Amino acid sequence: MKKRFALLLVVLLVLPLFAGCAQQEEGSVTITYYGRPDEKGIETTMIEAFEKENPNIKVNYVELPESTDQKLQTINTMLQAKDPAMDLFVGDVVWTPIFASADWVLPLDDYLTQEEIDEHVPGAMKAYTYRDHVYGIPFFTDGGMLYYRTDLLEKYNKSVPTTWDELIETASYIMAQEKDPNLYGYAGSWKQYEGVTCSLTELVWSHGGDFLDKEGNVIFDSPESVAAMTVMEKMVHEAKITPPGVGGFGSGDMRALALNGQMIFTRDWPSFYSNSMDPEKSSVVGKIKYTVLPHAPGQDSYSTLGGWGIMVSNFTDNPEEAVKFAKFRSSYESQKQEALLIAHLPTRKALYEDAEIVENEPWMVDMLPVMMSTNPRPQSAYYAELSAHLQQASQDVIAGNKTPEEAVKYAAEKMKETLGQ
Ligand code: GLC
Repeated sequence: MKKRFALLLVVLLVLPLFAGCAQQEEGSVTITYYGRPDEKGIETTMIEAFEKENPNIKVNYVELPESTDQKLQTINTMLQAKDPAMDLFVGDVVWTPIFASADWVLPLDDYLTQEEIDEHVPGAMKAYTYRDHVYGIPFFTDGGMLYYRTDLLEKYNKSVPTTWDELIETASYIMAQEKDPNLYGYAGSWKQYEGVTCSLTELVWSHGGDFLDKEGNVIFDSPESVAAMTVMEKMVHEAKITPPGVGGFGSGDMRALALNGQMIFTRDWPSFYSNSMDPEKSSVVGKIKYTVLPHAPGQDSYSTLGGWGIMVSNFTDNPEEAVKFAKFRSSYESQKQEALLIAHLPTRKALYEDAEIVENEPWMVDMLPVMMSTNPRPQSAYYAELSAHLQQASQDVIAGNKTPEEAVKYAAEKMKETLGQ
């Protein structure tokens, strides 16, 4: 009797525990998110806030490396393997055709209303659209800008250059006058990676050239492209205004020099400005201003569209939950936090009228017109390969291994080969 009673007692006590466990597991889903590096804790802060709002969804955060190319490599490997272990990820604006054409990313048309789409800066949203379907939601936008040292331009009574030749002239003049061996004229992220493609596209467009025509034919082999690459060559080999080793500069290297007061002109993304104003990072607080990049005489300035969004893997087992997080990560509140914390420019137009942004980051509002007119890099399912050829051509000119003519010819041929033309 006693034994039976004890058994019953155990069953009665233990059963609800099991029931509880089963219930908890049934309602809770874990999604794995491959996110950007956790700068100032931005990603983890957002994940915590999301989990609080959605107690049944847990987000497993995989922190991607700093370099754009390494991010692409990791994500590409997961998608190619059709691995459901990655539910969603951050995607660069240029990746949409690569993944959408392979059917690796989830179309989001059923999850977004036209009204929601229209809340974003058009170019930033368009970058996540492929053949009339939406494949991502942007959460910050980027565009190339020219930064300059106001104190040095004033000291030598020089105006802000509007053409590339003027920039080279002004930089050479100031360098010669200052006689500081640690002061350089101009730099961009010219390492052999996506960064140099961004600089090259701006140079080519601002000479009136382009990469592909409307039908997708390669039109890079042109006198305009040669003139654009000649600017690079002049800067490095003739005027010698770039820092030594510029061909190995990722965005961090170039920023470090500029923040250390060693650059007269710099090509960078918008977040550089807020870094330059931060006394903990910058020795040139208040001495940096920005404007549009130069152009060739008679041509226009161009700024390359950059930026990041969230894409959902087509191999996820949890599309509803993944989309929920994607929407949260690109929401008004999240973008606002990202703007205030790490100076990323929102893609949501309404944020440029948000009282806190206007008050704390007025420069963002000032940059909006440039962000509204940024130009997209060539859109192609073979973007990664096309960009690699352009990177190689730039590297060859920077290293002095090819003339601009040879480099342009080489890249154009490689591009045609890639596209089967
Ligand atoms: C920035 C831009 C991105 C670009 C990358 C190049 O992250 O937002 O669009 O591809 O720089 O490194």
